[in-house]
Amino acid sequence: MSHEQERLKERIAAELDIGRRHSNGLTLDVLTEEELLAQHSPLMSPLVWDLAHVGNYEEQWLLRVAGGRQALRPDIDGLYDAFENPRATRVSLPLLPPEEAREYNERVRREVLDALESVDLGVPGPRTASEDERFLLEAGLLYHLVIQHEHQHNETMLATHQLRRGEPVLLEETAGVATLNPPVRGEVLVPAGEFTMGTSEDPWAYDNEGPAHTVDLGPYWIDTAPVTNAAYQEFMDDGGYQDRRWWSTAGWEWKEGRGVLAPAFWTKEGDGWSRRRFGRQEMVPADEPVQHVGFHEAQAYAAWAGKRLPSEAEWEKAARFDPHTGRSHRYPWGDTEPGPHHANLGRRRLGPAPAGSHPEGASPLGVQQMIGDVWEWTSTTFTGYPGFRAFPYRGYSEVFFDDGYKVLRGGSWATHPTAARATFRNWDHPIRRQIFSGFRCARDAEPA
Ligand code: AVJ
Ligand code: FE
Repeated sequence: MSHEQERLKERIAAELDIGRRHSNGLTLDVLTEEELLAQHSPLMSPLVWDLAHVGNYEEQWLLRVAGGRQALRPDIDGLYDAFENPRATRVSLPLLPPEEAREYNERVRREVLDALESVDLGVPGPRTASEDERFLLEAGLLYHLVIQHEHQHNETMLATHQLRRGEPVLLEETAGVATLNPPVRGEVLVPAGEFTMGTSEDPWAYDNEGPAHTVDLGPYWIDTAPVTNAAYQEFMDDGGYQDRRWWSTAGWEWKEGRGVLAPAFWTKEGDGWSRRRFGRQEMVPADEPVQHVGFHEAQAYAAWAGKRLPSEAEWEKAARFDPHTGRSHRYPWGDTEPGPHHANLGRRRLGPAPAGSHPEGASPLGVQQMIGDVWEWTSTTFTGYPGFRAFPYRGYSEVFFDDGYKVLRGGSWATHPTAARATFRNWDHPIRRQIFSGFRCARDAEPA
C-alpha cells in the first residue's frame, strides 16, 4: 500500500473517531435512557434514532459497499431509513434502546476499521464520471461522506438539545474563544464579473457542490457581517412583525398563522428580550448574529432595511473569490484548514461569536464571518448545478431539488470543520427555525 494511502487511512480512522465521540457526548454520556427515547419535538427524531442511524448509514456505505463485507443487521435498515420514517413518527418505532445502539455502533465501527486496512481508496476521478466509475475510482469519497454525515447529525442532535426542556447538560468551552470584537459596520462592494462557483475536485465535496462552473454576476453590495440581534431588534421595535409591507405572501401567512413575534426561543422581558439557550435563560446579547430565524423573517428584515437576501451565487462569490488572482478558494481566508482564529466552528461555544470576532477569517473582498457562527439564508431555491450528477445516491441531494427548499450557506458554530467550506450547501424549509440559522443582506450596486 502506498504511503499516501496509509496516511489517508490514518486520517479517516481519526476523523471517524472524533465524530463518534461527539455522537456519544450528545447522547449516551449525558442523558438518561428515558430522555434518549423521548420525542423532544415533532420536528426532531428521538436522539436514540440519530445515534443508531449514523451507525446504520456507516454499515451500509463503509461496511457493505466500500468494505465489501456481509451485512450485520439488514433487518434494521428500514427503521433507520429517513425516507420511510418521517421524523415525527420515529418515536413509535421499535428502535434499538440506547445500550443496544451503542453496541451496534461499536460493532459496525470495529468491522469498518478492520475492512479499511485492505480497501483501495482509489484516486479522485472526474465529477462527470458515471456513478459506477466513481465507486471504483474513489472509495475514499464514501469515507468522507460517512464522516460528514455523522457530523451533520451531531448538529441536528444539538438542535434537538436546544428544543429539549429540562436541566442543562451541555458544557460550554470558553477557552480559546475570540473576545476581540472590533465594530463592523457597513457593506462590501463586490465588482461585476465572472467567478468559479462550486468544485469538481474537492475530495470532501458532496455531489451537490459540483461541477465547478462559471457564473457571471452584476455588481452588488453585501453586508460585512451577519445581521446582529441589536439590528434585528430595531426591525422588531419598528413594528416589523406587524407591517405587511415587508413580508412575502407566504411569509405573512406563516407568521400570522403561528403568531410569530420574535426569533424562536425569545421571551419578552420589559423593554428587552431574553432567550433560552440549551436550558439556560439569559438576556439576548446585542452584538451576536441573530439566530433561530426562518427564511421569511430574514426576507422581511432585508426588505425593511431597503435591501434583499443575497442569492446563493452572490454569497459564494463574496466568500471565496479573490479579485486579484481571479481564483476561488476553499475558504474565505484561502485554502488552509480552519483554525479557531479563522471561524467559530465545531461547537467550541454554544452560540455564535459577536460580529467582528474573526477579522482573520475575512474573504479577499473583506467580508467577515462567512464560515461558522450562523447558517445564512440565501434567496435561492435548492437545485442542481448545470451538469449535476447524483453520488452516491439520489436521496442525498437530488430528491430535494426544486421543492421549495431554500439554500443556507457557511455553516454555524455547531458545524464541525470537516463539514464547513465555502462550497458547502445546506437546505431547509423556509419556515424552519430550530436550526442555527441567521442571515446577512445584500443589494444591487450601480454598474461601474
Ligand atoms: C443537508 C442537513 C439538509 O439533515 O436532512 C443527514 C443532511 N442527509 N442525513 C439533513 C443529511 C442525510 C441533511 N441536510
Ligand atoms: Fe442521515
